[in-house]
Amino acid sequence: MSMTGKVVSAYPAPSVPLYLAPQAGVSESPFRRLCRRFGADVVLSEFVSAEGILHGNDRTMDYLRFDEDERPIGVQIFGAHPSRMADAAAFVAETFRPDFIDINFGCPVKKVVKRNGGSGCLRDLSLVSRIVAAVATATPLPTTVKIRSGYDQETRDPVRIGKVCEDAGAEAIALHPRTRTEMYSGKANWDEIRALKEGVQVPVIGNGDIRVGEDARRMWEVTGCDAIMIARGSHGDPWLFRQARAALCGDPVPPDPGVEERFQICLEHAKNAVSYGGNPQRAVIEFRKHLGWYIKGLPSARELRQELFQARSLQEIRDRLERYRQDHLTRPSARREPGRATAVS
Ligand SMILES: Cc1cc2nc3c(=O)[nH]c(=O)nc-3n(C[C@H](O)[C@H](O)[C@H](O)COP(=O)(O)O)c2cc1C
Repeated sequence: MSMTGKVVSAYPAPSVPLYLAPQAGVSESPFRRLCRRFGADVVLSEFVSAEGILHGNDRTMDYLRFDEDERPIGVQIFGAHPSRMADAAAFVAETFRPDFIDINFGCPVKKVVKRNGGSGCLRDLSLVSRIVAAVATATPLPTTVKIRSGYDQETRDPVRIGKVCEDAGAEAIALHPRTRTEMYSGKANWDEIRALKEGVQVPVIGNGDIRVGEDARRMWEVTGCDAIMIARGSHGDPWLFRQARAALCGDPVPPDPGVEERFQICLEHAKNAVSYGGNPQRAVIEFRKHLGWYIKGLPSARELRQELFQARSLQEIRDRLERYRQDHLTRPSARREPGRATAVS
């Protein structure tokens, strides 16, 4: 049975595993661990270049590291040359031993697409087929793929792309149902997830526009997908996995944590990010995006964000959050602004 099949059987009805999506600059080890704690069943690394892996540069090796408590974890790789992708997959499998190797056929970024990587491959399905086959035979680990619906509107055909991947040896297919040219505009076309599910035998992982717990339930009902993958909805909101699980099980969806708990989670995340990265100051700067997400929708969030973005150390982040807490949360008149329904409990 495939890795995805094993994960499926481990969960109660509706047995739909929740995946933390691969996200460059976001789904790093500390965030993956946090999401696992809140109920993500499977996590993925951000996409890593096959060329970078084969050159063995330090930054790339950092992207490949993970802790045992993150498992099951997939490492996602991208590239445009089947034999280089195969070599990179074999190296990752032997050196880091993740649970599966995922191939990125979705990245829309110009720099990657220009060299035929990511969604650039979708312009040539024979290349897609050769890459999947090369990776699948190079490693004993399951090979999965993450695709978009096509390169552009003209070539849009997620079922055909999915079948090509399946025939070449992919054991699961994650679909973000937008084309490369759509980038992130409009709505993800969940009907295409359903069509893919009906068109292939391997498990289909639905992805796109899960923002609240109930969206996960809706996606599952609309598409019958085998698993659900969440990216942007988890930003500053790792508890979304817990909420999605409740919605999938038909249980009451727990509210968002109040500010005190939100700050505690943010600080725990920041602490792990700083101790994980080699250079603490750089880790604090790279953590800014998470800070912005954690405080979104709070009263005076703009001022708080400006202050937090000046912070150069974990202690400064702690102090600024504590000052905010004193100013806004210890006074009985403190009220939330509209935007995040349950930000202040
Ligand atoms: C900051 C960011 C980085 C991303 N990096 C990757 C990546 O490395 N690999 C990949 O396959 N998709 C990547 N994606 C796409 C997401 O995995 C996902 O397909 C997309 O955001 C749609 O899901 P969502 O609506 O839940 O955000 C990234 C998305 C974001 C927002």
